[in-house]
Amino acid sequence: MAAIETKQLAREFEGGIKAVDGVDLDVAGGEIYGFLGPNGAGKTTTVRMLTTLLAPTGGSATVAGFDVAAEPGEVRRKIGVALQEAALDPLMTGRELIHLQATLHGLPRERGDELGDALLGRVGLTQAADRRVGTYSGGMRRRLDLAAALVHEPSVLFLDEPTTGLDPVSRQAIWEEVEKLNAEGTTVFLTTQYLEEADQLADRVGIISAGRIVAEGTPAALKSEVGKPHLELSLVDQHGREADCERVLARFGKPLPAKDGKLLVELEHGTSEVGPIVVALDEAGLAVESLDLVQPSLDDVFVAKTGEHLEGAEEAPADEAIAG
Ligand SMILES: Nc1ncnc2c1ncn2[C@@H]1O[C@H](COP(=O)(O)OP(=O)(O)O)[C@@H](O)[C@H]1O
Ligand SMILES: [Mg+2]
Repeated sequence: MAAIETKQLAREFEGGIKAVDGVDLDVAGGEIYGFLGPNGAGKTTTVRMLTTLLAPTGGSATVAGFDVAAEPGEVRRKIGVALQEAALDPLMTGRELIHLQATLHGLPRERGDELGDALLGRVGLTQAADRRVGTYSGGMRRRLDLAAALVHEPSVLFLDEPTTGLDPVSRQAIWEEVEKLNAEGTTVFLTTQYLEEADQLADRVGIISAGRIVAEGTPAALKSEVGKPHLELSLVDQHGREADCERVLARFGKPLPAKDGKLLVELEHGTSEVGPIVVALDEAGLAVESLDLVQPSLDDVFVAKTGEHLEGAEEAPADEAIAG
């Protein structure tokens, strides 16, 4: 059974704004599905419909096998939700908040105590359990949101931009927790504006733009659709030796136009060719000064599908792609 299935799901707002415009999703149990798109693409509206907080104006959706419109109570029992703009009471402590969630889910008081300890420990908030939420950092709040969403052991977890605005360390902590939950069997539907986040976490990514899915697949498949990796290199004492170098590079792949003084060649097979290229250049008396293997990114996919860059794409330094 699919964990999430939608057919032409749509939501139009007053004034004719089609926030979500015919979205088909099929998320398998146990998947991490990344819903990647810029501000205003329709991510939150989709999540609100899937979590029964907002009625669709078109199409249909089931979550954990239940229809969001006809069986909202059943859906809610199966899901956990951490929304983008969570309203945490700043005067409550973390522990009190988990307690409140447990009560809202009809769990007995002792269970609330257990959960308070277990869940706060799980997200690294044991030390801060009895501090008021108002004193928490952004990263701590997001972790508390996540803990609160886990109170009734949901089988499908919705996280709406769980790391937007967080520093890299806090972001990493959330990623690790999401991976752990998923390894325990939880299906995760996660929205993000960060390419890197979708790339790292998601088994499959749906790219959403203006209410429509414009591309979907594994990060690797999406990237290979838009192009092959290429090598950018420069030589020691490069001047006047470009032609020699290009001749050597052409043996390994399609030469691309030079960029910022770097010589570029597209590689069919990526990393495995880097060694032989350096050896071949060396044999031709050409010493390599710098060398970068540049992988196509999900931003390239977005550009290919929409003609625009994803917001925040420029945050990722270009050389970050190499590790991928
Ligand atoms: N309650 C609402 N009333 C009118 N328009 C809305 C409402 N909620 C969202 N929108 C519009 O729908 C579009 C998608 O919004 P949203 O789903 O929040 O995007 P995202 O979460 O991807 O940033 C935007 O153009 C937004 O302005
Ligand atoms: Mg949003």
